[in-house]
Amino acid sequence: MKNLKMPQNFLWGAASASYQIEGAYLEDGKGLTNWDNFVRIEGKTFKGTTGDVAVDHYHRYKEDIALMAEAGLKTYRFSIAWARIFPNGRGEVNKKGIEFYNNIIDECLKYSIEPMITIYHWDLPQALVDEYGGWESRKIVDDFVNYATTLFKAFGNKVKYWITLNEQNIFTSLGWLTAMHPPGKFDDQKTFYQVNHHANMAHAKTVIAYREMGFTGMIGASFAYTPSYALNCDPINAMSKVNYDDLKNFWWMDIYAYGRYPKAAMKYLQDRGFAPDIQQGDMEILKEAASKISFMGVNYYQSCVCEYNPLDGVTPYGTMNTTGKKGTGAVVGIPGVYKNPANTFLKTTDWDWTIDPSGLKYCCREITSRYNLPIVISENGLGAFDKQEEDKSIHDPYRIAYLKEHLKALAEALDEGCEVISYCVWSFTDLLSWLNGYQKRYGLVYVDRDETDSGSLDRYKKDSFFWYKKVIESQGKALFDE
Ligand code: BG6
Repeated sequence: MKNLKMPQNFLWGAASASYQIEGAYLEDGKGLTNWDNFVRIEGKTFKGTTGDVAVDHYHRYKEDIALMAEAGLKTYRFSIAWARIFPNGRGEVNKKGIEFYNNIIDECLKYSIEPMITIYHWDLPQALVDEYGGWESRKIVDDFVNYATTLFKAFGNKVKYWITLNEQNIFTSLGWLTAMHPPGKFDDQKTFYQVNHHANMAHAKTVIAYREMGFTGMIGASFAYTPSYALNCDPINAMSKVNYDDLKNFWWMDIYAYGRYPKAAMKYLQDRGFAPDIQQGDMEILKEAASKISFMGVNYYQSCVCEYNPLDGVTPYGTMNTTGKKGTGAVVGIPGVYKNPANTFLKTTDWDWTIDPSGLKYCCREITSRYNLPIVISENGLGAFDKQEEDKSIHDPYRIAYLKEHLKALAEALDEGCEVISYCVWSFTDLLSWLNGYQKRYGLVYVDRDETDSGSLDRYKKDSFFWYKKVIESQGKALFDE
C-alpha cells in the first residue's frame, strides 16, 4: 500500500457551486432564479437561510483563488449561474456575467489551475419557470443548449473540462418527489420521469453541440452515485439491490454512458404509467451523445443498504436530517421494491450520512466494469460542525480522517485498474449547504459567517487545508504516512 501514488497529471481539486458561494444575487444584471425564490418560502431551509450573500465569492474570488493556488490545487470546479449570463434564461447576453466568469477563469489560469466548469448546478432562471414550468417543458432543451453553447463560445478556448448537469438525480428527486427543492412538488412521478427525460436531452444535445463546434476537451455529467449493498444473502434482499441499482443509479448512468434506459426499470415504470414520453429520434440522440462523452462524473458521499420493503413499508418521503441532530433522518424506500436501512458496520455523520470510504472504490470499480469510462470524482467531502478557536485556528481532524480514507480508497481503485483523472474535495471554502444552512461546513477554508448574515466573511485556513496541501505536494504519498 505504501507505494501507491496518484499519476503525475492527476487533477487534485476542490469544488463549489454558484448559488452556494457567490452571493450578489441582484448585482450586475443577474436575473432571479428558482432558488432565489424558493429559499423565501417559510420552512424550506434551515432557519430560513438564503444565498443572497452566501460567502461573497462574487467580490472575493481573487482571494479565494489565491488560497487555492497556495493549497496547490490543479483544478477548480465551479458552476456558472445561468441567470448571470441570460437574466431571463435566453435573449440578450449579460456582458457583466460573461466578464465575471472570464475573470474567474483567467485568475485560475494565472496560477495554472485548470478551470472545470459545471454548466448547471441547480440555479435556474425564474423567467423560464414562469414562462413554461422550467424543466417540465421540453422547451427547456433548446434554451439549455443555447446557454451552454454561449459558454462554449465565450470560454471554450480556455476551458478544457465541462460538466453539463450536476446531480440530475438529486435535483429532480428533491424537486418533484419530496418537495424539498424547487419547484417543491410532491410525489409527481410521471412529471419526475418526464423532467428527467428533458434533462437527458439537454445534456445529450449539449455534448453533441460541443463536439460539433470542434472542441476536443473533456465533457460529461456529474452523477450523485450512492452505491448499494444487499443487507444479506437472502435472495429477496439481493433482488431489492438489483431493483435499487436499476431505478436509482443505472437509470441515469446508463443514459450518460450508453444512451439507453435500463429495461426492467422502464417496464416497471410503463406498467405504472410513469414512463416518460419519448419522441422519435430521442434515443438516437442520447446514443450519439453517449459515444461523445469523455468521463463519468461522480459525486460520492455515502453508500446505502438495500432490503426488501413490504407493500405497506416505508416511502421515499421520510424526514431528512437538516439540523445536524444525529438520528433524526428516517429510513426511506419504495414499497414493494426496496428500503435503505442503516449500515450497522459503518459510522454516520451528524447529518446521518453513512461514512464509507470503500464505497468510493466500489463506485470506481462498478463504473470501470460497466462503462469502461475515465472517472472524475467531482465531489467528496464531510459536512460537519467546525469550531474556530480563540487564536482563529480551526482543528478538523474528523475531516482530515474522512478525506484521507476516501483518497486511500481512490488510490486503491487506480491501482486496481480504474482510470480516475481528478478528485475534487467538496468544498474549497465553507458555503451554503442548501437545506442545512451555514452550520453544516464542508470547506478546507473556514468562512466567518453563520445563519444570521452577520460575521466578517473573512477566510481562515483549517487544519485540513494544510493537510491537503501536503497530500498534493507529495502526489498522494503523504496519505500513507502514519
Ligand atoms: C451535492 C451537491 O449533493 O452534495 C452540493 O452537488 C451539495 O451542491 C453537497 O452541497 C452536499 O450536500 P448538502 O445537502 O450537505 O449541502
